[in-house]
Amino acid sequence: MKVSSRGSDVKDGKLAQQGQELIEWAAREMPVLELIRQRFVNEQPLRGLRLSACLHVTSETANLMLTLKAGGADLALCASNPLSTNDAVAAALAGQHAIKTYAIRGEDNDTYYEHIEAALDHRPQLTMDDGADLVSVLHKSRRDQLTEVVGGTEETTTGVIRLRAMADRGVLAYPIVAVNEADTKHMFDNRYGTGQSTIDGIIRSTNVLLAGKTFVIAGYGWVGRGLASRAKGHGADVVVTEVDAVKALEAAMDGFRVMRMGDAAREGDIFVTVTGDVNVLDRKHFEVMKDGAILANSGHFNSEINLKVLDEMASGVRQVRPSVQEYRLSDARRLFVLGEGRLINLAGAEGHPAAVMDMSFANQALCAEYIAKHAKELEHRVYDVPDEIDSEVARLKLRAMDISIDTLTEEQRRYLSSWEEGT
Ligand SMILES: NC(=O)c1ccc[n+]([C@@H]2O[C@H](COP(=O)([O-])OP(=O)(O)OC[C@H]3O[C@@H](n4cnc5c(N)ncnc54)[C@H](O)[C@@H]3O)[C@@H](O)[C@H]2O)c1
Repeated sequence: MKVSSRGSDVKDGKLAQQGQELIEWAAREMPVLELIRQRFVNEQPLRGLRLSACLHVTSETANLMLTLKAGGADLALCASNPLSTNDAVAAALAGQHAIKTYAIRGEDNDTYYEHIEAALDHRPQLTMDDGADLVSVLHKSRRDQLTEVVGGTEETTTGVIRLRAMADRGVLAYPIVAVNEADTKHMFDNRYGTGQSTIDGIIRSTNVLLAGKTFVIAGYGWVGRGLASRAKGHGADVVVTEVDAVKALEAAMDGFRVMRMGDAAREGDIFVTVTGDVNVLDRKHFEVMKDGAILANSGHFNSEINLKVLDEMASGVRQVRPSVQEYRLSDARRLFVLGEGRLINLAGAEGHPAAVMDMSFANQALCAEYIAKHAKELEHRVYDVPDEIDSEVARLKLRAMDISIDTLTEEQRRYLSSWEEGT
């Protein structure tokens, strides 16, 4: 790792101006975060707090960093995925905003973890994670620092699952607020943000026409729902695979074909995994897929497509477009894997649109403030986002969108909280 005089490791400091323009472009669509930033400037709720963040280093994340900085936080930032960094944005954060930034697009695994270590060298009192890698390294190899940490936040489903597992086993050493669990996060970010940007990543990587294609989606959670409706909008024939009976039923009644992956594997032109699970696409599926099938993942980790097995099965692998690898199998069939099986909306496109990250990151900023204020009252477990924060984010977003809603009359309030009145 080459650390600059300002203590950052980014690809090229000369990209800073370009990155600044991207940050300003995203800011136009992040009015809620801007309102919070303005309040933070005056109130300084994070004054002097050392905060280490492990997030996708995008222009939207940069706006969150500037909000936290405006609130008085002393920041370090590293990437939460080797392929999700925008190098220009990283340069702007490190250069123009003097925020310690450790992120290079395409960094190898060793550098990825060196960057996490560098963010932990900042000795955080607050952690902000996307996938729980920062928290995991802290608990595994930096235990001496754990007493300095007052709390943390977690952005995504997979991270929340890992953190709950830590809490259940009694090893979580400080409180974490699960930002993902806010309605104003997963109902919008996971569904509309990942739904749209996953399609964007697939199209940018391949320029393939979706209309008329059989588009197989593994997992009908928040991300799967959003992706399915958007793929349908493009004219694709959408197939859903699930392991949860309720979700499978929901997919069927939403109008999608539901079947086992073993059957879908024979039919699909495009496969996207969004389960947060492991080896959802495996040997038995690769064996029956059509020549030319496209495989992508938009779940958090690159664990959903068994690339190790695919590699073993392949007689040759070559890069055919910037984000596309062709695996040639011994029977001459070709399978195309996008973005090395990493989340394709970031590996092949720019991640979520700013308008949706506005809400996710408003939750992050308000939860950081909440932890700073309430850390002493919190136990070492995973907390949901307080309802007041969730509704505040929705209220501010509606205001920014110039949408007004009704309020209950006194009579309606009384009626809705009573039990005596019937027909
Ligand atoms: N790409 C991004 O930017 C982005 C954004 C948000 C979330 N995520 C990630 O996407 C993944 C899904 O998130 P979510 O919020 O939709 O989670 P979710 O828990 O709402 O949905 C996951 C679904 O996958 C199903 N599933 C699990 N194993 C399966 C299998 N083997 N086959 C078929 N279905 C299976 C589950 O039953 C569940 O319905 C997580 O890893 C999350 O961290 C990525």
